[in-house]
Amino acid sequence: MLQKRPLCVIFLLFVLSEANVFQCRSKLLQGCNCGKIYYQSETLFTVNCTNLSFRDTAMLRELPEETQMLVFTGNHVAVLEMNVFGDDAYLSELKIVDMSNNGIREIKGKAFHHVPSVERLILNHNNISISNEDDGNFHHPRVFSNFYNLKELHLTNAFADNTDSALADDLHDIFVNSNLTKLYKLHLEQNEIKFFKDANVFCDLPNLHDVHLGDNNIPSLNFNVKCLKKLRYLDLESNNITRFSEKDLEAFDSLTGTDREENLILEIKGNPFRCDQAIKVLYNWLLETKVEVRDKDHLECHQAKYGTKYIMNLKNLAAAKHAKISQAITVLLVVLVVILITLLAAYIYLKKDKVKSRFGPVLDVLTRKVHYTTIDSQDV
Ligand SMILES: *[C@@H]1O[C@H](CO)[C@@H](O)[C@H](O)[C@H]1NC(C)=O
Ligand SMILES: *[C@@H]1O[C@H](CO)[C@@H](O)[C@H](O)[C@H]1NC(C)=O
Ligand SMILES: *[C@@H]1O[C@H](CO)[C@@H](O)[C@H](O)[C@H]1NC(C)=O
Ligand SMILES: *[C@@H]1O[C@H](CO)[C@@H](O)[C@H](O)[C@H]1NC(C)=O
Ligand SMILES: *[C@@H]1O[C@H](CO)[C@@H](O)[C@H](O)[C@H]1NC(C)=O
Repeated sequence: MLQKRPLCVIFLLFVLSEANVFQCRSKLLQGCNCGKIYYQSETLFTVNCTNLSFRDTAMLRELPEETQMLVFTGNHVAVLEMNVFGDDAYLSELKIVDMSNNGIREIKGKAFHHVPSVERLILNHNNISISNEDDGNFHHPRVFSNFYNLKELHLTNAFADNTDSALADDLHDIFVNSNLTKLYKLHLEQNEIKFFKDANVFCDLPNLHDVHLGDNNIPSLNFNVKCLKKLRYLDLESNNITRFSEKDLEAFDSLTGTDREENLILEIKGNPFRCDQAIKVLYNWLLETKVEVRDKDHLECHQAKYGTKYIMNLKNLAAAKHAKISQAITVLLVVLVVILITLLAAYIYLKKDKVKSRFGPVLDVLTRKVHYTTIDSQDV
């Protein structure tokens, strides 16, 4: 009996540690869950405030010190004020911050302080305008400057619609001023981006490996990729690209080679390529490049006259054209031969007497020979 008790206690402790999510102790954090959860192959002490209709972030000043992941989503917080996590807070364990779906319109310059250990910041599905000139405090290029260890920045559908030019203007300033030396992965999908003010917009992110720019309105490779020495994944799916120049394709090729860990992976499906001269260059490049182009067989080009074609089928198109030409040549040859024979026949008919006198003896010999052979064979 005495021996069994510790086992029971251990078992009880085990059960408790597995289901370790409780209401948070702080009154301000009422409604949120606090506790350890298993998330993407690690156990993290998580504070989860999902869909609680919070209108500000005051409660985040009372985050437990051991917090490793903060999920603060589905609330209604228009402005992230200075020092979201408090003036004297030091959340040295905080690794993941998810503030998606909060209708955030503005992030004040010093909103995020004391966040040295955060590796992943998620601000998807918000309504952020970086250049909000309504208040004197607009344009905060240092908004991410305290994230020394940030590896992933998720900004999918994060910005207000119709801010595309302002966003493009500010993105580079933000990256230059934020010193995101470790940033590995950047998500900027669904932001209606067309142009970047500065083609070197991503060049100050020296560790950038993955850039996600799908579902924007980018019309060409209008930013520098050659400066991104570590780039291994570029998503340009569902943009507004009609063609790549040879220089663009060279830039992609510069991100392959034996001196690199991995060759570039490229997503370009869902762009309105045109079936023109440039597409032939793209087609040949697709056959030869070391860049891993995803969904090659589903790439399409469009031509007003013939509609949509699969780019990788262009070869068949070319072959068909070739076959048509050789067919035409055959027909032409047959016609020429027929004309020649007709002319020859006409000539012979017109000059039949002359021909007879010249070839007569030969013909006679031939007919006689035929005659004899027939007789011979009959003899046998
Ligand atoms: C946070 O809580 C909500 C329910 O309130 C749950 O659906 C969601 O999965 C939780 N998130 C995490 C990362 O545990
Ligand atoms: C949170 O609210 C959103 C939108 O109202 C809803 O789609 C989502 O399912 C909710 N999540 C949870 C965990 O209740
Ligand atoms: C986003 O903000 C704009 C004004 O900046 C506003 O007109 C729009 O309704 C907001 N959208 C959402 C989904 O909150
Ligand atoms: C940028 O961050 C690195 C460490 O990641 C630091 O050594 C460097 O001084 C910082 N530079 C600026 C301008 O803040
Ligand atoms: C896509 O590009 C075409 C020109 O090629 C332009 O007319 C159109 O407005 C662009 N669409 C968007 C959404 O930017």
